[in-house]
Amino acid sequence: MTGFSSQWLTLREPADHRARNQTLLKEMQQYFERTQPGLGQSQHTPMRMTDLGCGTGSNLRALAQDLPAYQHWTLIDYDPLLLDAARALLTSWSDSVVENRSGELVDSELRILKNGKQISVSFVQEDLSKNIERVLAQHTDLLTAAAFFDLVSPDWIVRFCQSLKSPLYTVLTYDGTEKWLPPHAADQLVLAAFHAHQSTDKGFGLSAGPGAVQIIQSQLTTRSFNVQLEKSPWILDIADQGLMQALATGSANAVAETNRVPTIDLNAWLAARKQAEHCEIGHWDLFARPA
Ligand SMILES: C[S@@+](CC[C@H](N)C(=O)[O-])C[C@H]1O[C@@H](n2cnc3c(N)ncnc32)[C@H](O)[C@@H]1O
Repeated sequence: MTGFSSQWLTLREPADHRARNQTLLKEMQQYFERTQPGLGQSQHTPMRMTDLGCGTGSNLRALAQDLPAYQHWTLIDYDPLLLDAARALLTSWSDSVVENRSGELVDSELRILKNGKQISVSFVQEDLSKNIERVLAQHTDLLTAAAFFDLVSPDWIVRFCQSLKSPLYTVLTYDGTEKWLPPHAADQLVLAAFHAHQSTDKGFGLSAGPGAVQIIQSQLTTRSFNVQLEKSPWILDIADQGLMQALATGSANAVAETNRVPTIDLNAWLAARKQAEHCEIGHWDLFARPA
C-alpha cells in the first residue's frame, strides 16, 4: 500500500477544496443539466457518482453542494481504515443521518442530509490496480477522483480508458510544478529527485506521475471523448504553515529514498522550507465526456 494517513488527507482538504478549478466545475455541472436535466431531481433517479481512491471522502464533501438534490456515491479505496474514516467524517459533516422506517440506521449504506441534498453512500474496498475493469462495468453517471491519477502507471491508464464509458471528472492531479518562496539553492535538485520518486511504483506499475493527465487526454481523445483541462494549483501562504511543513517533510522523506541529494543539502532545504512564506504546487483538473 502507498499508505496515506487520514491525518494527512484532513490537513490537505481545505487547500484541495480551494484549489479546484471553478470554470471546469461549471462545465461539468452544465453538461449534466443540458444532457440529463431530470437526473438527481427525485429519489427514484439519483445522480450516481463513483469516486476512485476516495480516501476519507473529501471529493464528496467538495462536490455535493454542486450536484443535484438526490445523489448516490460509491466510494472506493483499498484501505479499510480510510473507508472507516470516510464513514465517520461524512457522518459528522452531515446535517443528519437518515434512519429507515423501523427507526434503525441503514446498515452498510450511509444515508445523510446536507444543505438540502439527500446523499446515500456505499463504501467499497477494492484494489483498483487489479479490478478497474470490474468497477467500470458498473453503471455510473460520473466517474470521479481527486489526487489519484498521479499514482497510476501509463499502462493502467490505457486499461482504464479502454473500459471507460461514463464522463470523467478528475481533479488535483499533480503537474510537476512547484514554486517555494523564498527560493533555496537546492530547489531544482530536490524537485528533480522528487519527480524521480514520483515515477516509482505506487502499486500500479511505474507511475505516470506528472505526465498522467496528458496520457489520459490523448487516450480519451483517440476514443472520441471531448476532454478539457484546467489548472488547479495549491496556493499556500503563512496561514497554511502546518500544511507547508508537512508537505516539505513528506517531500524530503521521498527525496531521501532516492539518494539523489546529499543529506546535508536536503536537511538545509528542509529547514528552509519549514520556514517558507509561500508555496505553489501545480495540479490539473480534467473533465472528459463521451462524444
Ligand atoms: C492522495 S490520496 C487521495 C484521497 C482522496 N481522493 C482525497 O482527495 O483526499 C490517494 C488515495 O488513493 C488510494 N489508493 C492508492 N492505491 C490504491 C489502489 N490500488 N486501490 C484503491 N485505492 C488506492 C489511497 O488509499 C488514497 O486514499
